[in-house]
Amino acid sequence: MDKKATLTLNDGRSFEFPMLGGSVGPEVVDIRSLYGKAGVFTYDPGFMSTASCNSTITYIDGDAGVLLYRGYPIEQLAVHCDFLEVCYLLLNGELPNAAQKQGFVATVTRHTMVHDQLNRFFTGFRRDAHPMATMVGVVGALSAFYHDSLDINDAEHRQVAAFRLIAKLPTIVAMAYKYSIGQPFVYPRNELSYTGNFMRMMFAVPAEDYKVNEVLVRALDRIFILHADHEQNASTSTVRLSGSSGANPFACIAAGIACLWGPAHGGANEACLQMLEQIGDASKVGDFIKRAKDKNSGVRLMGFGHRVYKNYDPRAKLMRETCHEVLNELGLHDDRLFKLAIALEKIALEDDYFVSRKLYPNVDFYSGIVQRALGIPTSMFTCIFSLARTVGWIAQWQEMIADPEYKIGRPRQLYRGATRRDVKPMAQR
Ligand code: CMC
Repeated sequence: MDKKATLTLNDGRSFEFPMLGGSVGPEVVDIRSLYGKAGVFTYDPGFMSTASCNSTITYIDGDAGVLLYRGYPIEQLAVHCDFLEVCYLLLNGELPNAAQKQGFVATVTRHTMVHDQLNRFFTGFRRDAHPMATMVGVVGALSAFYHDSLDINDAEHRQVAAFRLIAKLPTIVAMAYKYSIGQPFVYPRNELSYTGNFMRMMFAVPAEDYKVNEVLVRALDRIFILHADHEQNASTSTVRLSGSSGANPFACIAAGIACLWGPAHGGANEACLQMLEQIGDASKVGDFIKRAKDKNSGVRLMGFGHRVYKNYDPRAKLMRETCHEVLNELGLHDDRLFKLAIALEKIALEDDYFVSRKLYPNVDFYSGIVQRALGIPTSMFTCIFSLARTVGWIAQWQEMIADPEYKIGRPRQLYRGATRRDVKPMAQR
């Protein structure tokens, strides 16, 4: 028998609503008919208990420390696949076979260049603009280049938009970086891997050759995999809501980038590195931990704890492994900040305050350290996140547009403002 939920109001009226079950995870009460039947809304700011859509892309069980993309555990994807395979999986629902992978890589690779006119767009920005501000503008500008040829109701057109976004984001991120440091743009090279090409566009200069280091490429590729999607977080919900009006997907991704920029979302690894700089050296760790445990100090140990993962963040375990690989490869174990990070991690993992509250290092604790070791400046960390998350955003956008139940998003409100009143003439106000 179909399960139902009953809502009884104080006035004695009772209403039944269907319960819907997913393949895994909590059931939901389908309240779409609530207002029509009962004339009331529900109140749930921050969507603490509200599913805004149904999705087949990503599943998280925060208590168990589980993250699945299309059913595959992140631990297996990070070890056995590269980022473009994960992109294919998120977009198409299945991992590619060898021929499908080859075709996908070839198509993405062919779209890596940006329209030459876009180069001039960068020069409108101040050199000292935050690169995320530049990203919001430039990615939004892509809609001016690819609007006329885009019918979002045509699945093939949507697919081409997805290819363009995944392919051009590394080029745009690297251009934002080069512009900010006053170096010439480096064009993509099609013989390199997706991530190798990105590193070259970031770090090569015309004056000398740049040799791609495969250990470092693999580390950055893993950062991309671990950040590729995280179900209905703030930026993904922003992309879905913007897209629900039928807006151009490039403009929707720009909206997602704007949302990600906020310190409560994509900015945590930047904050973690700033904290390490502020602590200064390993001798001051004990004192800092004391302050982080004192509620009145206003200090938190950045890179520790997670809103959803109340067990170990599965991405943190993988990033920790990568962190040590990179430090070994670059001989950086003696670097002041890295030593400090390792000392901090050790003390916090043994301290009862953190252990009893299940405050483990999160993915951002290690990804900041890895990115710094790769030579990526702190101000670029959120840009790297946006590059990786673009595939998640576009997969979720595609899923929404193809969903026959999709409607323009239109939350309700609990109005607490003035009731109807009349405008007084100026002299009487
Ligand atoms: N340092 C010290 N104490 C902490 C910390 C921390 N980083 N995080 C939580 N606590 C304490 C908190 O004071 C509280 O103590 P008590 O029970 O005695 O009142 C307890 O732990 C539970 O904290 P909470 O604030 O209820 O936990 P939350 O789920 O609301 O917060 C969090 C999660 C991520 C906002 C928080 O852990 C935090 O601020 N961490 C540092 C910032 C950070 O690294 N953020 C990145 C998260 S990963 C990003 C992503 O996946 O996109």
